[in-house]
Amino acid sequence: MTGPARSGPARARPPAGRAAVLGAARTSAAALAGATALAAAAAPAEAPPAAATDAPAVAAYAVDGDRIAQPLAGARGDAARGRALVADRRTGLCLLCHTAPIPEERFQGDIGPPLAGVGARLDAAQLRLRVVDMRRLNPATPMPSYHRIDGLQRVGAAWAGRPVLDAGQIEDVVAYLRTLRE
Ligand code: HEC
Repeated sequence: MTGPARSGPARARPPAGRAAVLGAARTSAAALAGATALAAAAAPAEAPPAAATDAPAVAAYAVDGDRIAQPLAGARGDAARGRALVADRRTGLCLLCHTAPIPEERFQGDIGPPLAGVGARLDAAQLRLRVVDMRRLNPATPMPSYHRIDGLQRVGAAWAGRPVLDAGQIEDVVAYLRTLRE
């Protein structure tokens, strides 16, 4: 439509240069603000459980047999957030190895047992230990230890010194797994 040959509209435009640079800076600031807003919108509306944000990197926990009886850092899990973590391909990676009743995620794994029905097979305390540190139960398991930082090999730089899932996220995942009764 308005090619370089048509000089009329082109002359009416403000001169390129500083204004354009400022414009570009404003655009990327706006994009950043937009991304932040999106991230905030993606987060669940209700307040996070009390201990989730100010919990230490790795919560202290006591293993009793195949269980961790107490919620990590006293956090109260949220099943909807847990579902999102299980479905997330960057954080949880659960669906790399497991299937779960999350139909919108088409590609699911079969290295581990299906998670459908796991909430009927295992109670919250049993689920908690399995997500925190499956290697306590099976040292040869391929399943990552999600809440442990010592004794790990081949830890990516982004994960060094912090667990894959924090205490609140562990409780969210446990809350979600508890809903998988059939
Ligand atoms: C790299 C593969 C892998 C990933 C990733 C993985 N798991 Fe596992 N998971 C396994 C395997 C294999 C088992 C079977 C137990 C074993 O290895 O001894 C298992 C077992 C389990 C169990 C016990 C199931 C049962 O019926 O006893 C639960 C619960 C579980 N995983 C949840 C999760 C959750 C939640 C995530 C993500 C936060 C996850 N897993 C990520 C491989 C994986």
